[in-house]
Amino acid sequence: MSSAIHIADVADHEVVLPEQLGFGRHFSTRMFSQRYNAERGWHDARIDAYAPITLDPAATVYHNGQMIFDGTKAYRRPDGHINLFRPECNAERFNESARRMGMPPVDIALHVQAMQTLVALDHRWVPNREGTALYIRPVMIATEKTLEVRASREYLHYIILSPVAPYFAAGFAPVSVYVSDDYVRAVRGGTGEAKTPGNYAGSIAATEVALAKGYQQVLWLDGVERRYVDEVGAMNIAFVFDGRDIVTPVLTGAILHGVTRRSLLQLAPDLGYTVDERRIAISEVLEGLASGRITEIFGMGTGAVIAPVGHMYFEGRDIQVGDGEPGPVARRLHGELTGLQTGKRPDPYGWTRKIDVPGA
Ligand SMILES: Cc1ncc(COP(=O)(O)O)c(C=O)c1O
Repeated sequence: MSSAIHIADVADHEVVLPEQLGFGRHFSTRMFSQRYNAERGWHDARIDAYAPITLDPAATVYHNGQMIFDGTKAYRRPDGHINLFRPECNAERFNESARRMGMPPVDIALHVQAMQTLVALDHRWVPNREGTALYIRPVMIATEKTLEVRASREYLHYIILSPVAPYFAAGFAPVSVYVSDDYVRAVRGGTGEAKTPGNYAGSIAATEVALAKGYQQVLWLDGVERRYVDEVGAMNIAFVFDGRDIVTPVLTGAILHGVTRRSLLQLAPDLGYTVDERRIAISEVLEGLASGRITEIFGMGTGAVIAPVGHMYFEGRDIQVGDGEPGPVARRLHGELTGLQTGKRPDPYGWTRKIDVPGA
């Protein structure tokens, strides 16, 4: 049973979105929050004005990092209304992350209702330029005042909204990736499947190395043998063989279960492509690129939806993928999925949830 959300009276001012939105730099008028303690469970679900959070300096999150987050988007439809894309999938993943981090799951229906209500109230913040969206960021942090390393007995769950441009400033343009053969992102049995900040904090030094070498993202190899491809940056990865066969690493326990990946695996066969989930060694990638059998590589994630890979750095060599430009498979999948998400194309899968905007 989902309990009611108290909605505070918050004044709406005119929203003037800047020309350059960036990613996660601007935030909407309101935020959702609820609190948890062992006695009452989740309680005090409310939507208030967006405001700073005050925490005790000894709050557990600052010490053992017990924290999770997720990310999904609200898209402006051509008719002025708004679409959410598979919000239940993100809510379920939020709870999977919570379980892995020893945190209490939230009520899925309440979480989805909170996202829908918040977006409906702050609908003015949903941008409408090509490639833009309102990014929805749910978070849970451990708030109990203790330095003991154990599960906190108190938590704060909140949701904030940010109007965003495509994750990469150049939009649907090729990204360059650096294969990290020293740092790893996650190991099986670790926290790689959870969206917890430690995974991202642990990736920053490797990303700095990549950036210093002129590459935008890190391609992560598996944490045990450093042989198999796991992910690219904060995206799942796919390889196109012979212009038609899409191969993506099987979810081993160290790879995040991406909603974009899952959706594309369902959509691609309907467009005539084959899909295969299996382990793929970096040596197979190098051979495939050398022989020309691998025609495209792309990342899949909410931020960029599809990010074609143009160049790859591995062991001192720069290798071009295809002709270095976005390939036809990435282009087609990007068009189909973004068209469906934004309501420009029909949604035969029932993935979108429409939010009506008054007067649209
Ligand atoms: C590490 C990682 N892998 C993959 C993804 C892609 O997941 P999704 O398609 O649900 O955005 C994300 C983004 O959420 C991520 O952070």
